[in-house]
Amino acid sequence: MPDRNRYLLEEARMPGQWYNIAADLPTPPAPPLHPGTGQPIGPDDLAPLFPQAIIAQEMSTERYIDIPEPVQEVFKMWRPSPLFRARRLEKALGTPAKIYYKYEGVSPAGSHKPNSAIPQAWYNAQEGVKKLCTETGAGQWGSSLAFAGGLFGLEVTVYQVRVSYDQKPYRRAMMETWGAQCIPSPSNTTDAGRAALAKDPNFMGSLGLAISEAVEVAAKNEDTKYALGSVLNHVLLHQTIVGQEAILQMEMAGDDPDVIIGCTGGGSNFAGIAFPFLGQQLRGEHGKRRFVAVEPAACPSLSRGKFAYDFGDTARLTPLVKMHTLGSTFTPPGFHAGGLRYHGMAPMLSHVADLGLIEAQAYQQKACFEAGVLFARTEGIVPAPEATHAVKGAIEEALRCKREGKAETILFCLSGHGHMDMAAYQAYFDGNLLDQDYDENELAMALSLLPQVA
Ligand SMILES: Cc1ncc(COP(=O)(O)O)c(C=O)c1O
Repeated sequence: MPDRNRYLLEEARMPGQWYNIAADLPTPPAPPLHPGTGQPIGPDDLAPLFPQAIIAQEMSTERYIDIPEPVQEVFKMWRPSPLFRARRLEKALGTPAKIYYKYEGVSPAGSHKPNSAIPQAWYNAQEGVKKLCTETGAGQWGSSLAFAGGLFGLEVTVYQVRVSYDQKPYRRAMMETWGAQCIPSPSNTTDAGRAALAKDPNFMGSLGLAISEAVEVAAKNEDTKYALGSVLNHVLLHQTIVGQEAILQMEMAGDDPDVIIGCTGGGSNFAGIAFPFLGQQLRGEHGKRRFVAVEPAACPSLSRGKFAYDFGDTARLTPLVKMHTLGSTFTPPGFHAGGLRYHGMAPMLSHVADLGLIEAQAYQQKACFEAGVLFARTEGIVPAPEATHAVKGAIEEALRCKREGKAETILFCLSGHGHMDMAAYQAYFDGNLLDQDYDENELAMALSLLPQVA
């Protein structure tokens, strides 16, 4: 029998429930706090921003939550997504390790982001919401929500971080194709944006500020809700379809991963692939595995951030959440993996890191692009700049296996393709892509401004 490259699940085997790791953790994560009272927030505090069903998921400790039938129907446009064995990459590296990757770039938007955009749009539409407002870094989340909103008849406005807006004009065209409006952030359409522009008219923006703009619009407009593409519990929950499918596909392959890897911006694709496997471990159904989160060295929230209460946005409009954070006023350098330029990390993932259940590694962008190019030249797929971090992490593990003479099984999430990011690849080939260090003084300043929580 020829060696198998692809493991495809039948549509009928697509998981019908999301997995909620909150049910299996030894201790619960710290609750989000109201910035005014310092008390844990309740559903009413979130009601101006999110529909009730999403708030319930945010706070749920149920192990499994049903995926609504209409959401499953949309998912089946591209799900279950394929699992590949990276045989050509293994050969190029000369590693005894087996490398598998779960490819999320087969979605219409080109990444894992529609896995949460579809249910978020659907729940909002069910509760009579007419307009959604959001932010986007790389443009992947913005285009995913544009696509999802269009399917369920919602008007979508996306604030795109200025630097990405300029780097990736075709993402904006995609959002408009699906019927959304895309505004560069900072903009003069919100108080938060105007304040940032007054301070620095050339400010290239940050995810933290784009979140402030979108939250402000939702908070001020009765008919508009807010949608977030990562970080929050419900988004991580929605992404667990990735890991649940991967469990079935690894069974098909007759293999079992020793190391599971994903890139981390806000933490959703990594949690999506990791949590279902980690759940097996937490429930005592499986021995210990390694889980490796790979982040950019220029914005290393897990490896360099403080585990503390902080705001999710720059203008301090969100509740306080306990997370690994570089400080909500920290502006990462304008490197190309725009989806990884966030000052914080998902509270649930931060908690899991604090419990010692996962590891973090950080790499500079040139090393990640080099890994992405090797991947493209062996496996064929051009990874999104964000996803090159996961590729780099997998290659490093495979080379470690080579040094140690170990035939471990490595699984990583290839969270998206880079077809809209070719300007970044061009810059890499032209020698114009530079490694960028964050400013240590700015980090120290941002950390010194963390809110005081008793
Ligand atoms: C392709 C891709 N991968 C990863 C990320 C990072 O987000 P998260 O950590 O929530 O998966 C993004 C964010 O935009 C992305 O577009």
